Amino acid sequence: MNELMTSSRIKIEPVQNSKIHEIDFDNLVFGRKFSDHMVVMEYENGAWSTPVIKPYGPIEITPAMNSLHYGQAIFEGMKAFYVDEETIHLFRPEVHFERLNNTARRMCIPEMDYETFIVGLEELIKLDHQFVPKKEGTALYIRPFIFASDDLLAARSSNKFSYYIITSPVGAYYPEGFNPVSLTTTDNYVRAVVGGTGEAKTAGNYAASFLPAREAQEAGYTQVLWLDAKERKYIEEVGTMNIHFLIDDVVITPELTGSILPGITRRSVIQLAKDWGYKVEERKITIDEVFEASENGSLKEVFGSGTAAVISPVGRIHHQGKTINIGTGKIGDFAKRLFDEITGMQYGRVEDPYGWIHPVKVQ
Ligand code: COI
Repeated sequence: MNELMTSSRIKIEPVQNSKIHEIDFDNLVFGRKFSDHMVVMEYENGAWSTPVIKPYGPIEITPAMNSLHYGQAIFEGMKAFYVDEETIHLFRPEVHFERLNNTARRMCIPEMDYETFIVGLEELIKLDHQFVPKKEGTALYIRPFIFASDDLLAARSSNKFSYYIITSPVGAYYPEGFNPVSLTTTDNYVRAVVGGTGEAKTAGNYAASFLPAREAQEAGYTQVLWLDAKERKYIEEVGTMNIHFLIDDVVITPELTGSILPGITRRSVIQLAKDWGYKVEERKITIDEVFEASENGSLKEVFGSGTAAVISPVGRIHHQGKTINIGTGKIGDFAKRLFDEITGMQYGRVEDPYGWIHPVKVQ
């Protein structure tokens, strides 16, 4: 196998035969197909190794690997956007990096430095830039992740970890595309408690949500709308996205209490809404307040935000036998403006006054 060294000393082992012909760029399914390469780095004896870029493929693990047993595993979700033949845009990679390290601290996983993170990512994007889809609404989803890789059945933190970045050309996350999704609360389960791991992007949070999500889907809803675990009345998030409400002309977003994922699109929505002159409130909001606002006509829009979800309008919410319908079955004007502004910056059509865009020159 040919080996290349980049200026940043990352060793690259390129594939012999690209799998790009396997990608149906006209029918992208979220997270099913992967680009040719992946970044790999190992932590052992108290230090991270130099990253290597290798062909994407199966990895060897042993049955005793402790993340399989105890879930010491974390991840990030980012996207790369096609601008032109020479330029790919990353969106706010330094904030994703900060959140990865915050999650790592909570899950007793060693942190890494920004240089290692961004150089590995940039090299991977340069190498696999042909996998960044070009159509509107598509992107190359980027999944950095770290898992405990010791062979160790004792229930304590691993001393060895593996870090990977894999990428996947994607379209819309939800089966509805960018049309309104439907949500239901649940009386039977909670997502996270304050003091737990709700604000960390760790594997177990998602595993624990699969049964409630399946039950919600069987009942005809796209996802669960999570309420707080203690009083079961304050709205938290959706598990695959954060949530926002436009009530009259006020943009209300559940405040970060420790049990909610601090979304990067969430943060961008709040910044844009403030700069557009809206009154923005990050505060506790009850499900009853939302239902009352719907009844008295002041609930204008509900939408989710996330890297995978982008800006996803919510058209229906069910809670304890009652259902409210929001909007007209299409994305609302405010959510559409946010969608257009954020994706406009991402695809390079709209100026970025915030420094959120990180361009990567691929030629
Ligand atoms: C993301 O938005 O990137 C996420 O990690 C959500 C995941 C459930 C796909």
